[in-house]
Amino acid sequence: MRVFTRRSMVFCVIVNAYLWVYRYKETRMAFVIGIQNQKGGVGKTTVAINLSHGLTLKGLRVLLVDADPQGSARDWAAVRKGEPPFAVIGLDRPTLHRDLSTVAAGYDIAVIDGPPRVSELARSVVLASDLVVIPVQPSPYDIWSAKEAVDLTKEGAIFKEALVSVFAINRKIVNTAIGRDIVEALGEFGIHILESTLCQRVVYAESATTGKTVLEANPKCPAALEVLALTEETLGILAGLNKEIRL
Ligand SMILES: Nc1ncnc2c1ncn2[C@@H]1O[C@H](COP(=O)(O)OP(=O)(O)OP(=O)(O)O)[C@@H](O)[C@H]1O
Ligand SMILES: [Mg+2]
Repeated sequence: MRVFTRRSMVFCVIVNAYLWVYRYKETRMAFVIGIQNQKGGVGKTTVAINLSHGLTLKGLRVLLVDADPQGSARDWAAVRKGEPPFAVIGLDRPTLHRDLSTVAAGYDIAVIDGPPRVSELARSVVLASDLVVIPVQPSPYDIWSAKEAVDLTKEGAIFKEALVSVFAINRKIVNTAIGRDIVEALGEFGIHILESTLCQRVVYAESATTGKTVLEANPKCPAALEVLALTEETLGILAGLNKEIRL
């Protein structure tokens, strides 16, 4: 007796192929962008939240991972009216680099808002990341302390060869000498400096108080345009990494 007809076998193959593609889509690793600098108040959360929204507007499924025990990104999500445009979860354990692949399954990109000190948790953020973005402000204190952030990523690169790190200048004050000098000063570290910078603008702080991104506050304001430029540049770097992404 023939149990399988030719037609039923073809049907089985097609169904299995669909299931395989579906599973692959849902379980493939998301790109991970870690926003990390052990210095407090440099703009990690500001960059993480706004970049997450910029990436969401590009049609990507974004998960914002709050890895800071202070829970700023979670507080930001809690004060807003209604759901944020992207998912926000708290994961502030030093096992983050092992846990993230499961948590971020089904997302295209995970953006991690890192903690403000060098710790096992910060190391875990770096190890979890494909790209580490180090926000720095144009101040001598930030430039001096950038070495520690750079050392942390270099340490991570020993374990993860493909790890890419970049500086992102935040709170730049236009037409000031320190705004120009910072590029030269950071150049000493031999790490790529993103061309797109976020300037000192009150809308970054104001929008955060109501749990909004600057893109929601006013999608055409200069801050929103800065965030969109940062998003494009970040995506350009991710596209250069040898990992599949739906862009
Ligand atoms: N470009 C900017 N213009 C104006 N204000 C800004 C800008 N970036 C950040 N801020 C403000 O600076 C403060 C610190 O920023 P933020 O919380 O993002 O830094 P952080 O690095 O995450 O701090 P922490 O280390 O405590 O986590 C916040 O009040 C934020 O609104
Ligand atoms: Mg923060």
